[in-house]
Amino acid sequence: MDVYLETERLMMRRFTVDDVDLLTGLDSDLEVMRFLTGKATPRDEIANVVLPEILAVYAEHRELGTFAAYQKSDGVFIGWFGMQPTKEPAMVGVGYRLNRTAWGKGYATEGTKALIDKAFGELGMDRVVADTMAVNHRSRAVMRRSGLRFVRVYHEVFDDPLPGTEFGEVQYAVDRPTWEAGRCA
Ligand SMILES: CC(C)(COP(=O)(O)OP(=O)(O)OC[C@H]1O[C@@H](n2cnc3c(N)ncnc32)[C@H](O)[C@@H]1OP(=O)(O)O)[C@@H](O)C(=O)NCCC(=O)NCCS
Repeated sequence: MDVYLETERLMMRRFTVDDVDLLTGLDSDLEVMRFLTGKATPRDEIANVVLPEILAVYAEHRELGTFAAYQKSDGVFIGWFGMQPTKEPAMVGVGYRLNRTAWGKGYATEGTKALIDKAFGELGMDRVVADTMAVNHRSRAVMRRSGLRFVRVYHEVFDDPLPGTEFGEVQYAVDRPTWEAGRCA
């Protein structure tokens, strides 16, 4: 298997063209999609848009993209983690989407911390950012626990806004000196 990253309890690998069903299953839970699109992503859209876009990022950025995550103990798929390129070459954006059965176990924090360590330690990044809806408190808690700090609230205009859009989006971030100081603490 093409292992991208391992933590104590998790293993991450790159997605392949064979993963349409895995992604369709994840995006079929409305509670998982609540702060994303508010609806399930149709299989056709996964096959023709979502997965091709994921594969295109690997082609351009060997060490970045969206990665399927598994429990090492039993090989169960739990969702994905993302470490995406941004318009700044030394800055990446992290994210996560887990099956509901994998919530409440500390997996999102464990995976995000490992991605941040890889971004600074291996990939030479200077800054890691993460964005979510202000009302997505679970996601904000993952950011805080992972060592990201609140930066700003901002507002975007959507054609079909989700409930809570009026409270805006939030950005969290950590830069290299802060990450290095945290490692020595
Ligand atoms: C955002 C999301 C990944 C957060 O998941 P989560 O389970 O709340 O976060 P973690 O995996 O870090 O788990 C933390 C919880 O596990 C608990 N936990 C249990 N065992 C643990 C362990 N061994 N280590 C650490 N925490 C543990 C923590 O106490 C915490 O519980 P709490 O929520 O009651 O405070 C999840 O809600 C999700 O996938 N949502 C849908 C997609 C989404 O909105 N993504 C973000 C868009 S930007």
